[in-house]
Amino acid sequence: MKKSDTVRHAKRIIAVGGGKGGVGKSILSIALSVGLARRGQNVVIADLDLGAANLHTYMGIFQKTPSLADFILSKKSSLDSIMVDTSVKNLRLISGSQFVPGMANPAHWTKIKLMRHLQAIEADTLIIDLGAGVHFNTLDFFGLSDRGIIVTMPEPGAVMNAYSFLKGALFRKLQNVFKRHPKIGPLIDEKSKRANEGDFTFEWLCKQVQDIAPETAPLIHEVSENFRPYLIINKMSDSHSSVLVRNLLHLCKNKLGIEIEHIGDLPDVPEIVNYLLRIPDFLSAPSGKSYAAAIEDILNRMDKIQFADNSTTSVRISSQNLRHDFTDEELEEFAKLLDSLNEKVFEGTNRQVWKLRIFFKPLDVIRFLVKHGVEHPIFYA
Ligand SMILES: Nc1ncnc2c1ncn2[C@@H]1O[C@H](COP(=O)(O)OP(=O)(O)OP(=O)(O)O)[C@@H](O)[C@H]1O
Ligand SMILES: [Mg+2]
Repeated sequence: MKKSDTVRHAKRIIAVGGGKGGVGKSILSIALSVGLARRGQNVVIADLDLGAANLHTYMGIFQKTPSLADFILSKKSSLDSIMVDTSVKNLRLISGSQFVPGMANPAHWTKIKLMRHLQAIEADTLIIDLGAGVHFNTLDFFGLSDRGIIVTMPEPGAVMNAYSFLKGALFRKLQNVFKRHPKIGPLIDEKSKRANEGDFTFEWLCKQVQDIAPETAPLIHEVSENFRPYLIINKMSDSHSSVLVRNLLHLCKNKLGIEIEHIGDLPDVPEIVNYLLRIPDFLSAPSGKSYAAAIEDILNRMDKIQFADNSTTSVRISSQNLRHDFTDEELEEFAKLLDSLNEKVFEGTNRQVWKLRIFFKPLDVIRFLVKHGVEHPIFYA
């Protein structure tokens, strides 16, 4: 793997998930991609519903094309070489067509390689369409997003699945931080080898942290606060629907400490079924007008929020060109640097907490160190 294959190039990554099948994730993924491409962005859409991929059919691509199967089987070594042009200018597809053994559930290292290559795609926006369910692989692909999107329909079952999905995604983020803890890390390793996914949960991890390393427990809240996905309700209808949505937002806030951004709703458009082999045409058709307008609203809101996110980051980094994006290897190196520092740097705080914080808020750690007189080339772009 070349270094350039592993560093982040995609300017924005948006994964679309939701837990329940058939809630409209794939059509929404395409609609967002088409909307952005029509605004002149260079967009890539990736079909990570491995094993049940359908973006190629929704995009009207029926001939055999390269696909993720070639990458997973190592027949192709780069994602660039499997991207296919679509009927929409500026929009390329990474197709999930061609089912091959191991495709639906790739081995751990294949998944890591795929995630690294996805981050390295040169695009203004990479949109990732996910499959149904809360499998760890799906949650990990969701974790690639800057701010992912959860789609649901206003039905109790779908809303509960969306909640399980969010809880699972937050759990994976916490696991990624706490697996670096000298006492909790080995427990996570042990549990992940022995337990069913059902026993290896958010609650289990929170309890371990509280019991074994209570001084690091505030990090659970920091990770939750840092995780701010968007929510979109598909086929939004009456006031009963709004109550369900409010309940979901409350549950996320109260039980998980997550602030969800309800960024928009999509109308129910029965005519969509006439366009399932050509969704881009639906978005320009008279019957697709209300759906396309809702997408425009959502994209405008996302732009505003992203602008606010970026401007806080750039204010924070502008003065000294401090970095906020690192490869996993660099983060590990950074954590070792903290081990080597004099205890005085951490006076009144906890070295271990700073070491874990590196894995979700590296910029905050750099600012803390610089403020305490610690300098290192790894801090600067
Ligand atoms: N806004 C809508 N109005 C009417 N029908 C819709 C709408 N959105 C989606 N559908 C219908 O729901 C079906 C499923 O949509 P889609 O394939 O996008 O769901 P999904 O969440 O990706 O499903 P899966 O979990 O199987 O991947 C579509 O075939 C379409 O007929
Ligand atoms: Mg789908």
